[in-house]
Amino acid sequence: MKRAVWFLISAYASVPVILYLFPWILGHAIFAHLLRFPFFVDLSKPEDVLNHTCNFYLNTDQGVSVGVWHTLPASQWEKAAGKSPEWYRETLGDGRPVIIYLHGNVGTRAINHRVGLVKVLSTVGYHVLSLDYRGFGDSTGEPSEAGLTSDALYLYHWAKKHSKGSLVCVWGHSLGSGVATNAAVKIQEQGSAVDALILEAPYTRIGEVVAKHPLAKMYIFLPGFESLLWNILERINISFDNNKNLQVLTSPLLILHSEDDNVVPYHMGQKLYQTSLQAKKKLSTHAQVEMISFNADLGFSHSHIYLAPDLSAVVRKFIENLTG
Ligand SMILES: *[C@@H]1O[C@H](CO)[C@@H](O)[C@H](O)[C@H]1NC(C)=O
Ligand SMILES: *[C@@H]1O[C@H](CO)[C@@H](O)[C@H](O)[C@H]1NC(C)=O
Repeated sequence: MKRAVWFLISAYASVPVILYLFPWILGHAIFAHLLRFPFFVDLSKPEDVLNHTCNFYLNTDQGVSVGVWHTLPASQWEKAAGKSPEWYRETLGDGRPVIIYLHGNVGTRAINHRVGLVKVLSTVGYHVLSLDYRGFGDSTGEPSEAGLTSDALYLYHWAKKHSKGSLVCVWGHSLGSGVATNAAVKIQEQGSAVDALILEAPYTRIGEVVAKHPLAKMYIFLPGFESLLWNILERINISFDNNKNLQVLTSPLLILHSEDDNVVPYHMGQKLYQTSLQAKKKLSTHAQVEMISFNADLGFSHSHIYLAPDLSAVVRKFIENLTG
């Protein structure tokens, strides 16, 4: 009995020490890219889970190959039968809006709720490009904040080029919201704002989610534990600071957040909404900023907003305002 208690106490106490010594462990916990759910989907065969979709790879960096699914607007399903990747790429230029979907941590582009959202967007009439960042799914390389951002940036420029200038909207869910705003800042620095930004269940700064995690909360009594976490995040170059990014972004923005989100608290979405409203005022742009909340009774929590019956209408209205 005594030994068991001692064991538990030392296991508890060793976690901060291990994290301090091996800070990359925290990075692995944040990306969780090695959990390649769902295990039995062949990512090179999207037809097993999604219709009118082709799989291809982009070299987003030296030695980095990133897997992407291109799902066509559902209205094109008949025409798409048996077509080549070249035909798909050509069709991206048909003038319909393109959504780049940047998923959250854990698992691949084949996870149910990700596929579910792609179906909704395809039914509304958009092209959807859904990628697995470096280190995720069948993509090569190792994840890092800078690396994920580069992947998204590369895909945005690729989409802009092949869609021949159609509206390209960047959609980031959860961890992907930070990738989205990081990429948007870079694109803006390069000279033109991203056409549209949709953030689903976004956080203010990733460290604020980490510090609120149930595992981290077990250590809240340990003096200095929270500053240890921030210190580690700094050492592994992870900040994903949406709140800071939104202070400079001039793109039209739609935030979607469920009141019962059990991973990224709802108040973080509200905070970002306020930040963006103030920023647009300060930067004197008239770009629209909107937040849509989903009632806790609906039970969409962190990953199921795609089930909302009014989601199509909300997104269509936001995009139509931009395309006229
Ligand atoms: C693809 O579309 C066909 C015909 O509409 C449907 O029967 C099939 O279930 C769809 N497959 C997937 C994976 O959604
Ligand atoms: C963090 O970034 C700095 C500066 O770019 C770099 O020298 C360092 O190797 C990076 N650390 C990690 C763990 O990636």
